[in-house]
Amino acid sequence: MNAYDSARMADVMAPHGFAPVDVPEDADMVVLNTCHIREKAAEKVYSELGRMRALKRAKSEKGERLIVAVAGCVAQAEGEEILRRADVVDIVVGPQVYHRLPEMVARLARGEKALDTEFPVVDKFDALPEAKSVEGPAAFLTVQEGCDKFCTFCVVPYTRGAEYSRSVAQIEEEARRLTDLGAREITLLGQNVNAYHGAGPDGQAWGLGRLIRRLARIDGLKRLRYTTSHPRDMDDELIAAHRDEEKLMPYLHLPVQAGSDAVLEAMNRGHTADDYRRLVGRIRAARPDIALSSDFIVGFPSESEADFEATLSLVREIDYAQSFSFKYSPRPGTPAAAARKQVPEAVKAERLERLQALLNAQADAFSQACVGREIDVLFEKAGRHAGQLIGRSPYLQAVHAHAGSHKIGDIARVRVTQKMSHSLGAELVTGAAAMAVAL
Ligand code: 5AD
Ligand code: SF4
Repeated sequence: MNAYDSARMADVMAPHGFAPVDVPEDADMVVLNTCHIREKAAEKVYSELGRMRALKRAKSEKGERLIVAVAGCVAQAEGEEILRRADVVDIVVGPQVYHRLPEMVARLARGEKALDTEFPVVDKFDALPEAKSVEGPAAFLTVQEGCDKFCTFCVVPYTRGAEYSRSVAQIEEEARRLTDLGAREITLLGQNVNAYHGAGPDGQAWGLGRLIRRLARIDGLKRLRYTTSHPRDMDDELIAAHRDEEKLMPYLHLPVQAGSDAVLEAMNRGHTADDYRRLVGRIRAARPDIALSSDFIVGFPSESEADFEATLSLVREIDYAQSFSFKYSPRPGTPAAAARKQVPEAVKAERLERLQALLNAQADAFSQACVGREIDVLFEKAGRHAGQLIGRSPYLQAVHAHAGSHKIGDIARVRVTQKMSHSLGAELVTGAAAMAVAL
């Protein structure tokens, strides 16, 4: 979501003479687009600001300026505290008001620092300019923002606010535009993307499944994905879209967080481990080859060894293709941060290690099982070697292949020849099968 927001901020600044550069040394303005989900992510911002302070000083000695802005959820959560703690910062801008960046920059010229962390009632998406270019054939498109779930560990409902869904018409227009600009794959984004309920052309609220079916009709668009989903919002229509829509890729990020009912309850997740098992059963019945991924938190307050082992059992049963796992990090203002029974750091570290060993083994086994198989790859960028391109498999794995006459943006059929640590090696399938793809 931050990658998408950063691109939108670049679009907002473009009419004012700003264009993206590769390194901060070449910039007149640096925007740190930040994440507040765990403490580590927030701390990174302050250490990065230390670097910006040195850069600003070096530039001012050369008579050059550097505007430093902090955007994103750290800006939203910390507000004025950032200006107090880091005097290098000129602008603090929350995620709902990116469209106001140009006027904030203008205020700087009058010698005022600028802070804006409002949640305005006007639709930010109406105020943002249209995308002018896409960075490669795989694009992002925000369809939903915010969250009403209030998991007890999570800052998102506070930093991103209440759930909001864009209209089907607005999303379809943006998807067509991205496709015209060269996107072949679009990932629909939302903090709770499958809670999507935007206004449809018929005046009804449409769910994500229906939206996906609509977008799948766009000709040049070949692949659709969405992230991140909540188990409670996986409705029949969306599961059916996985069964019927060829363009919807067989990969689903469906965080479960933990495998113990007591912990799930304390997290306010609104489902049990068995609910999740049954849900996965229904999804796999609809799309047997679907690759599943999840987020996990270990060491949530009061998590016992038996609770943690319930997580390990669930993981063994589900068998994930990929996963993300974290030590519980108390976030100021969230209910779990105030819980009395915090788990000691050493226990969290030990559990994380055990969980990650299991998850990594599953991810490796999933990739290993692809060796020898034929899959379609959407080429996204040049590889390290001449003639090599890197793309993504339907299951979101990075795939390297010598691409022959294929170019970035093509979808080609390849045979996976080897599994490397974070990617797959493959060769083009030649002959009749390849001809069919080229046609
Ligand atoms: N501590 C650790 N992990 C967290 N996440 C969210 N909040 C916290 C927290 N306080 C994780 C969840 C979520 C992912 C994006 O980040 O697993 O799904
Ligand atoms: Fe945070 Fe996701 Fe829970 Fe919402 S559903 S509170 S974004 S973890």
